[in-house]
Amino acid sequence: MSDFSLGAAFIDGDIVPVTEAKISILDWGFLHSDATYDVVHVWNGKFFRLEDHLDRFFAGMARLRMSIPYERESLRSILSQCVKASGLRDAYVEMITTRGVPSPGSRDPRTCENRFYAFAIPFVWITPPESKLNLVISQQQRIPAASVDPTIKNYHWLDLVMGQFEAYDKGAETAVVVDAQGNLMEGPGFNIFAVKGSSITTPASGVLEGITRKTAIEIAIDKGYEVRQSPLSPELARCADEVFATSTAGGVMPITTIDGKNVGEGSIGPITSEIQRAYWALHEDPMYSTAIDF
Ligand SMILES: Cc1ncc(COP(=O)(O)O)c(C=O)c1O
Repeated sequence: MSDFSLGAAFIDGDIVPVTEAKISILDWGFLHSDATYDVVHVWNGKFFRLEDHLDRFFAGMARLRMSIPYERESLRSILSQCVKASGLRDAYVEMITTRGVPSPGSRDPRTCENRFYAFAIPFVWITPPESKLNLVISQQQRIPAASVDPTIKNYHWLDLVMGQFEAYDKGAETAVVVDAQGNLMEGPGFNIFAVKGSSITTPASGVLEGITRKTAIEIAIDKGYEVRQSPLSPELARCADEVFATSTAGGVMPITTIDGKNVGEGSIGPITSEIQRAYWALHEDPMYSTAIDF
């Protein structure tokens, strides 16, 4: 019997145990990071903001001149099938389109047939909601947006991963990388926010426009806070009352130290908690969630 306990994948038109899903070593998704992807989560048996994730995924494919033989409705169905096969009520669901494999002997991307893959695995947390993150401001510079557009979700992660190693070396859990001026950009899989008084700042550009970022901005505005999408300097982050990260892999995550020094009191701040609570409450709202028919 097939073992779906570690998750389920869609590959070559079939749903298989995730441990059995294998791609060609010649796929440019693997050889050149020539791919786009998206991650949506399932919480309590419901997708959260699935349509926003699909919008971003289809927009990314169009910008990278990729196409797949599946319409939006088929994608919804494939993702649901992965979750159903896995039996997971809380899941991390990834969809990927790669450039594919060129004709033998060719390096012409036009000869590639783009490939679509998807999988559902147990929920992945950058950090669970009740915990706190220690952050390092890395000296690692984010790939400039003029080179690789960060609004197209991509696998150019070496800057982020090297930043993460820098954080571990310094006894922290994660890092945020910077732009050429030293402003904070984003971390491995998350956007960043700083709170000062009733004003909340998050970088406007040069980062992935996270769906969790969007949700946190909407909640903050709804609660009457001022949201500034503008450069986030290290000084602003260090003297903030609160700092938090946002990601599909964890939601709204409090950051309580930066480079070993407390942010504010060094505890989870009230505005972060308020946004975090509202974020998880939205998961029960049918406007934001899509129930899976298990
Ligand atoms: C580089 C980067 N920034 C930000 C995010 C957060 O985006 P989202 O809230 O859509 O998960 C991600 C998610 O993986 C990411 O890879």
